[in-house]
Amino acid sequence: MSKVRIGILGSRFQADCIAGAVKAMPEEGEVVAVASPTKGHAAAFAQRHSIPRAYTDHRELLRDPTIELIWITTPNRWHAQMTIDAAKAGKHVVCEKPLCLTLEEADAMIDACRKAGVLLLYAEELFFAPKYLKAKQLADEGAFGRVHLVKQGEKHSGPHSEWFWDVAQSGGGAVMDLGCHGIAFCWWFLGKPTIKSVYSQMATQVHHERSQGDDEAVTIIEFGNGAIGMVESSWNRPGGMDDRIEVFGDKGQTYADMLMGNALPTYSEVGFGYAVEKAATTKGWTYPVFEEHWNYGFPQETRHFARCVRGKETPISDGETGRVVQEVLYAAYASAGLGRKISMPFRPKGIAKPIDLWKKPELAKAAL
Ligand SMILES: NC(=O)c1ccc[n+]([C@@H]2O[C@H](COP(=O)([O-])OP(=O)(O)OC[C@H]3O[C@@H](n4cnc5c(N)ncnc54)[C@H](O)[C@@H]3O)[C@@H](O)[C@H]2O)c1
Repeated sequence: MSKVRIGILGSRFQADCIAGAVKAMPEEGEVVAVASPTKGHAAAFAQRHSIPRAYTDHRELLRDPTIELIWITTPNRWHAQMTIDAAKAGKHVVCEKPLCLTLEEADAMIDACRKAGVLLLYAEELFFAPKYLKAKQLADEGAFGRVHLVKQGEKHSGPHSEWFWDVAQSGGGAVMDLGCHGIAFCWWFLGKPTIKSVYSQMATQVHHERSQGDDEAVTIIEFGNGAIGMVESSWNRPGGMDDRIEVFGDKGQTYADMLMGNALPTYSEVGFGYAVEKAATTKGWTYPVFEEHWNYGFPQETRHFARCVRGKETPISDGETGRVVQEVLYAAYASAGLGRKISMPFRPKGIAKPIDLWKKPELAKAAL
């Protein structure tokens, strides 16, 4: 079967991950074009990854008839518009997390793709991270008995690009940026049960001058099957990306540290090139990772999505998955705003971005 021809929107951090992931799965797909608005960025990206075509406007890329699948790696506020444009152009879509800013956007994205008969795939790579997948296989085999608590934490020193800190472009802070992974993870790990309630404690602990966004949060999700998900999100942890899970059942438990647990505990007085994402230094004690993209699951995610386009696999993460996460994000911010647990479903209308439910609790109250 021929390779899936992919066009990437965006040309920085996540675009690099995806271009690298596609190269790691050369039998499944190839990146044939990239679009990015800053003059020279798309061209430099194309040269770096040997991509034949580069555009400065995503609509130009969408007119390219050879492209089958669009991979959106642009700031959150662009996700909905680009998905809808891509669907109208008859292209399948992979959208990076979080799906979008609002529930209305989520519905419009799902609707546009359904009407156009194209796939809307939601890029949650934790569903493919080998260590986490192994934990789920053990749980599904019954190794831990009845699982009643799943914890996921994602923490680093704060995002690399300015737009993440601007809540008008990102929709929120650490919960929006990192919590979306943990919300999706706990839900998926437990077999996608109904969600009963959400409670979140959040604050801007460190970065007041830089952002109105939350930079530290603990979010507790109560599932219909009685299990609890606990998601820790932080932009206040120097020392490189920290991503780990804990799973507890009545017959056992498991712990998985995706990055540091797969790294080489290393001491260097002089430093070296690269340790791990968001590590500010390589001097002293560090945890250089190997096979970083593989440990995250990016190549495996790419293979799955390419095979979905070819009809060989059924999506395990789609627009509906992203929408579930979006609802929990709304509830988390509303919970922080009101200082109480939010019962689900919670689907307020007309909210411009999730963080508004924290900053303006009257919006959350009106929606109860
Ligand atoms: N799955 C993950 O683990 C993961 C990791 C990082 C980022 N992401 C997500 O990927 C998205 C991008 O994040 P990033 O870290 O790559 O950000 P980034 O700032 O590094 O890159 C964003 C890119 O989008 C481009 N862009 C902006 N407006 C555009 C437009 N109109 N058309 C085309 N390109 C445009 C920018 O020029 C830049 O190249 C975000 O939604 C983020 O949440 C996911």
